[in-house]
Amino acid sequence: MSRTRTSDVLVVGGGIIGLVTAWRAAGRGLSTAVVDPEPGGGAARVAAGMLAAVTELHHGEQTLLGLNLASARRYPDFAAELTDLTGHDLGYRRCGTLAVALDADDRAQLRELHALQSRSGLESEWLSGRECRRLEPMLAPGVRGGLRVDGDHQIDPRRLAAALLVACERTGVAFHRTRAERLDTAGGRAVGVSTQDGASLRAEQVVLAAGSLSGRLAGVPDDVLPPVRPVKGQVLRLTVPRRYAPFLSRTVRAVVRGGQVYLVPRESGELVVGATSEELGWDTAVTAGGVYELLRDAHELVPGITELPLTETRAGLRPGSPDNAPLLGPTGLPGLLVATGHYRNGVLLTPVTGDVLGHALVTGELPQEARAFSPGRFGAAAALAERPA
Ligand code: GLY
Repeated sequence: MSRTRTSDVLVVGGGIIGLVTAWRAAGRGLSTAVVDPEPGGGAARVAAGMLAAVTELHHGEQTLLGLNLASARRYPDFAAELTDLTGHDLGYRRCGTLAVALDADDRAQLRELHALQSRSGLESEWLSGRECRRLEPMLAPGVRGGLRVDGDHQIDPRRLAAALLVACERTGVAFHRTRAERLDTAGGRAVGVSTQDGASLRAEQVVLAAGSLSGRLAGVPDDVLPPVRPVKGQVLRLTVPRRYAPFLSRTVRAVVRGGQVYLVPRESGELVVGATSEELGWDTAVTAGGVYELLRDAHELVPGITELPLTETRAGLRPGSPDNAPLLGPTGLPGLLVATGHYRNGVLLTPVTGDVLGHALVTGELPQEARAFSPGRFGAAAALAERPA
């Protein structure tokens, strides 16, 4: 039996990006629904939650930096608003970040990052190895120098997802706990989705916010299909026993043998160690090699880590885009918007994504700060080339 439900806005995907979009849409008076078999899940279940606009700056990503900084600036008010509404503590911790170098090559790379940060008007301070260890006594004696970035903070993404779920419920968002199987179109526009359980969900506007799965929804015309791909990240969780606290007082990260490793200490005693970056399609297996490399690199940075209980290993899929930046707003298909491709910055970009999509759903346009992230920057040819097999 076919069932039809209608709303102003239907969000496909109930990860943090889908939830913040739904929350902001409902807050603007639009009747809103989310379709997802497990809302509150997705890549945020795995993510460490670094809000690292400055330490994750890369050459060629200055436009993305503007959006990252815009979102970082929103975080204090955003977190306070969510906590006021839901009563949930998000683990938002203004702890700063220390990026360190373990050898001469790492140090040269970090010096270059420092120069790029300075040219971009960002605040970071170069420290000697001794100064780094004074800040974080658990660091290895071999640390050769580092960058102190007091403006890069952290949040607990699982708590963020749980709070967004409650915020959506309190704001009247409806949840369809099933899978969207295909986008339905009529008269040259998106009109809703058909679901795995046989329902037809109808809406004036559909937002595709399904993370790395966004490029796979059947029925989306090739020329508007977002060119996102899964980029696997394996992450470990350890626990710092009370007798060792404070083990680390801020996020500590390094590039070791060309790979990123970061240690994110929560006030709860959880210590998150991430992350691999692997282009392996839809594979989410935790591998011995992934765990080994993370522990090996983390141990080089902070030798005492081997004393800590290892409590969880997990892999997730970042939604990678061709330019590492998100795709936000209306597509070439009337009635279809996207909010995906956030790659390494999904948690950081959550507040600004909610605001941008809320604006776009009401006005039909992107606000100035998000115009560079229109999905239209990728043409049909790019979409086809990047389409996952
Ligand atoms: N932003 C950290 C990561 O994607 O691993």
